[in-house]
Amino acid sequence: MKILLLGSGGREHALAWKIAQSPKVEQLFIAPGNPGTQNVGTNVAIGVNDFDKLKAFALEKQIDMIVVGPEDPLVKGIYDIFKNDPSTSHIAIIGPSKEGAQLEGSKDFAKAFMQRHNIPTARYKTVTAETLNEGIAFLESLKAPYVLKADGLCAGKGVLILPTLEEAKKELQEMLGGMFGNASATVVIEEFLSGIECSVFVLTDGKNYKILPEAKDYKRIGEGDTGLNTGGMGSVTPVPFATKEWMQKVDERIIKPTIEGLASENITYKGFIFFGLINVEGNPMVIEYNCRMGDPETESVMLRIKSDLVDLLEGVTNENIETKEIVFDERSAVCVMLVSGGYPGNYDKGFVINNIDKVEDSVVFHAGTTTNNNEIVTSGGRVIAVSSYGKDKNEALNKSFKAANTITFEGKYFRSDIGKDL
Ligand code: AMP
Ligand code: GLY
Repeated sequence: MKILLLGSGGREHALAWKIAQSPKVEQLFIAPGNPGTQNVGTNVAIGVNDFDKLKAFALEKQIDMIVVGPEDPLVKGIYDIFKNDPSTSHIAIIGPSKEGAQLEGSKDFAKAFMQRHNIPTARYKTVTAETLNEGIAFLESLKAPYVLKADGLCAGKGVLILPTLEEAKKELQEMLGGMFGNASATVVIEEFLSGIECSVFVLTDGKNYKILPEAKDYKRIGEGDTGLNTGGMGSVTPVPFATKEWMQKVDERIIKPTIEGLASENITYKGFIFFGLINVEGNPMVIEYNCRMGDPETESVMLRIKSDLVDLLEGVTNENIETKEIVFDERSAVCVMLVSGGYPGNYDKGFVINNIDKVEDSVVFHAGTTTNNNEIVTSGGRVIAVSSYGKDKNEALNKSFKAANTITFEGKYFRSDIGKDL
């Protein structure tokens, strides 16, 4: 099979690493990829949203399947664009239709969907500039802190958590006034939920599904979960509180009604669903849906899937995922993210990365790297994801921290407390 994977981050290197291990794969292309994906496939210099070029390339190379890494092309409708064109409709797309991608592309869509299907989530109200007064009244009915979410995609920056009512009212007006452009012309106000978060992933063919290993992500830049939000500083799988019993609640109360809800509303969905969950006194609730895998969760989750991922993806395309078996690796897997100094604020790029080849016991996934004069240099905030196996989380973490110290580049920073709270 010939596969084209879209994206260029650590998530895509981890997906490419796993896909390339399948005996079913004849050729793997990554658009645009990074210096890491080049080691397991062939990079193609086409952007993830350049649908005309992607179509032409897919036809030229006789691509059988496109695996979509990031949310952007999905929310822009890549599934429908390929399926509605007779010349590309035969190509399998791993990812939801444009409508299905609204689970991530519109917070209001996601909340209304959950309400329709009785899926546990925080109480909410959606407001626009016209209904600002209703929004203020709703804020007044809640207890601090206050959660405001831009309805549309904001590259992970569209959620504000405000400690006081005054700030919440002020920020609500600023969001509606264009703080995040059109993405915040509609704002979802939510009740604040208190608990530990956990990311749960499923692969669905639209009717049935397989649950992937769950993971915990570390979002803040600082040790002890302090400071600004980032794209994610590390991940750990399995998650101790995600016991069999808890996962059964997740399945019955959240996953099953989501898949059945999509099917009953005739929303085409063949791909990954990421359930951002929070454990509220033993009960899982949905914080958010994403229409793709998580980053940096993928960099640990892929290590724990023993089964052939491509066989599972074929189950998605052929709508027979129920006939497939997913086997987990019993070991723990973790990922520690090496980031640029200054991230998530301003940072410089172009620093040479040394000693990747000296790492022995870990899998190094490239995230924000590029090549310059035959050297690997930094090109983003999140630079390298170091993933490791261990008989338990601590053994895996020790390996990743060792490798994190081995790899060097100017300004390198990583959180040395990943997994310590579990
Ligand atoms: P989201 O983009 O919806 O995942 O929100 C970003 C982060 O904000 C989440 O990962 C949570 O840490 C936090 N968050 C979002 N919604 C809530 C909520 N209702 N209660 C508490 N924390 C929340
Ligand atoms: N790790 C969170 C995300 O991928 O959105």
